[in-house]
Amino acid sequence: LTEADFQHCFQQWNSRMERCRDRQGEYIEGDKVATVIGCLADGLDNKIEIPYEVIPHFPRSTVQGHVGKLVFGHITGVPVVCMKGRFHYYEGYPLWKCAMPVRVMKLLGVTHLIVTNAAGGLNANYKVGDIMLVNMIGYGDRTRTQAKLFAYFKKNYQSCSRYLKVPGRTTSASGPASPMNEAYDRVLIDEAKRIATQLGLGDSVHEGVYTCLGGPNFETVAELKMLSMLGADTVGMSTVHEVITARHCDLTVLAFSLVTNMCVTSYQAMNNPNHEEVIDVGKMREDVLRMFVENIVRFIQKS
Ligand code: 6GU
Repeated sequence: LTEADFQHCFQQWNSRMERCRDRQGEYIEGDKVATVIGCLADGLDNKIEIPYEVIPHFPRSTVQGHVGKLVFGHITGVPVVCMKGRFHYYEGYPLWKCAMPVRVMKLLGVTHLIVTNAAGGLNANYKVGDIMLVNMIGYGDRTRTQAKLFAYFKKNYQSCSRYLKVPGRTTSASGPASPMNEAYDRVLIDEAKRIATQLGLGDSVHEGVYTCLGGPNFETVAELKMLSMLGADTVGMSTVHEVITARHCDLTVLAFSLVTNMCVTSYQAMNNPNHEEVIDVGKMREDVLRMFVENIVRFIQKS
């Protein structure tokens, strides 16, 4: 893609968005988490970087000094676009706007979306640095778990009731609403597991249920206990609305969490999660994540 192609896509997008006026994001706390797995964008071949500011109607990164750009390039010869910095509900954007870049990707001709996140580990079998392939199905009761969590959001978090409305407007480009039963592509999950074994990652790669809470705070012990009881394996502040949107416009999705800290579910424990730890673990696992994603992209190209 050249910059001109890109601007053309955005003109199309622009005309669709002309009528939308949303409230301006009101920033609450420094968004450092988004940069955790940003190394993937840095490693692209033939990079073209487009700052969010020049893209019409795109949300802005509200943090001073925080990178916000779409990075185009190639991974093992496959054309890709990465988001360097993404948008979170706690930045004050409505969820449909947090997920807007996914629709832009669809317009640009993207077919597969790999969503990554830094997350707290709730499953006691996980360790810091582990990777969890997100799957909300395939565990019998997991679909019910998700429904329970949504009910919880709706009841207890005013702001999170919007989770249910994420797809927002239907456009000819995005297609009709799709069911979420197969949101996380089974073929890609299985292949990712095979790749993990091949890379010698073995028992540090899992499959489980990810939960998104609004942030920007980490959770209380009571909340973490509840999430754990409901069957969640990791918890973070992103991904869910992006995946719902991606499925709505028929992208094939793979999502994985990097476990950056273990959630504390005891009132006695003194170790609180903090942003520095989250960033450090991201850095520590950079090479592994890059190899993992490269192999997945290679598989997507072949399939
Ligand atoms: Cl413990 N909670 C949330 N919501 N997000 C996180 C996290 C915890 N650790 C990393 N990201």
